[in-house]
Amino acid sequence: MTPRARIVAADRRHLWHPYTPIDDAERREPLVIARAEGIRLWDADGRSYLDANASWWAALLGHGHPRLVAALERQARALCHVALAGITHEPAALLAEELAAVAPPGLGRVFFSDDGSTAVEVAMKLALQYHAQTGAPERVRFLALDGAFHGDTLGATALGGVELFRRPFAGVLLDCLRVPYGDGAHERAFSALAALLERDGSEVAAVVLEPVVQGAAGMRVYDAALLAEARRLCDHYGALLVADEVFTGYGRTGPFWACEHSRTTPDLLCTAKGFTGGMLPMSATLVAERVYEAFRGGPERAFWYGHTYCGNPLGAAIAREVLAIYRDERVLDRARPKAARIARAFERLAGLPGVRATRSLGMVGAAELEGAGYLERSGWRVHDEARARGAYLRPLGNVVYVTPALNAPDADLDELLAIVEESIRAALR
Ligand SMILES: Cc1ncc(COP(=O)(O)O)c(C=O)c1O
Repeated sequence: MTPRARIVAADRRHLWHPYTPIDDAERREPLVIARAEGIRLWDADGRSYLDANASWWAALLGHGHPRLVAALERQARALCHVALAGITHEPAALLAEELAAVAPPGLGRVFFSDDGSTAVEVAMKLALQYHAQTGAPERVRFLALDGAFHGDTLGATALGGVELFRRPFAGVLLDCLRVPYGDGAHERAFSALAALLERDGSEVAAVVLEPVVQGAAGMRVYDAALLAEARRLCDHYGALLVADEVFTGYGRTGPFWACEHSRTTPDLLCTAKGFTGGMLPMSATLVAERVYEAFRGGPERAFWYGHTYCGNPLGAAIAREVLAIYRDERVLDRARPKAARIARAFERLAGLPGVRATRSLGMVGAAELEGAGYLERSGWRVHDEARARGAYLRPLGNVVYVTPALNAPDADLDELLAIVEESIRAALR
């Protein structure tokens, strides 16, 4: 048995893949990835694949950045793990300080957790307890957009607006007011948000939004002015505003935070994925001072919450190095012309047969194909063509998109964009 066959046999026998129908997984030849560098993944036979989505939107500085690998090694020699309750350490404390310095103004407190879902879970629980401790215990509902995606823990699932992901759990999910998206106009969705707040605002703990781009919904982009409007509405109706920047943070849409497009400061901001450059699972919820203040007092007012790996020294050391690399390598400035390349390439796709619409923002480019929804196969036909041409281009149903590393070399980026076009032409002809 070749090493590849050995891996595939063990995989088919025992491994349960996320977001994958079992029959598909057992039928398809999986990519067996052995190593990665920059925006390239290499399989066990030495074939390379351009990583079009930065490995689920996380490896924003490419794979194996030498400074991140060195930071991991350095920290591993000193301290791999220690509890964060009643103990502090350099990586966590200094990371919190550095995050507060880059956060939208006023978000000066940092609560660490494990991944995007738990960062959202923390925000939800903080919002509920904040209201309970500031005289509004009736505020127990959340408000989120249709098509929203905030993670897969039960709380985050309740916020989610992708029906397929909610359906099996619908009976037990928290109460969430859903803003309809209808015919695709975010303007209409945000006026529906205003109407919902007008009707039920006194029961709402928080409005939770993916600022400016709804990622999993199919890279749906909306005007940043609507985000600012959501801030105004939250203030008016006494709800907290949670910005889920798990996907959009760290420059994905241009500025460091997508909230900066409209200078909006949320009360809580969730960050993960690019936070550790895709090296280790770790996340943070950034918190406004007034929310933090509401937890002062006796022990019954404390936030009785925490995961084993909160503030893990390895993850924190890497997250600090990520911030240092953003500064030293001027990642956002250098990404700007790359974003323009993506925008031009996706504009060109707009006229292709089978392409209904295209959109781009920052280091995101998306083409919406015919059909609808997450189970649509058109995107997967493009995926198969791209795989044969050396790119890993996982679609969101009928939406084919690229979200490469922000520092993708121009030559690799151009090769990827050419593969996207060829694959769409081949799949939809
Ligand atoms: C906006 C947003 N929030 C939360 C999550 C959940 O993050 P994780 O998969 O790390 O739990 C995701 C994942 O894609 C996301 O896009």
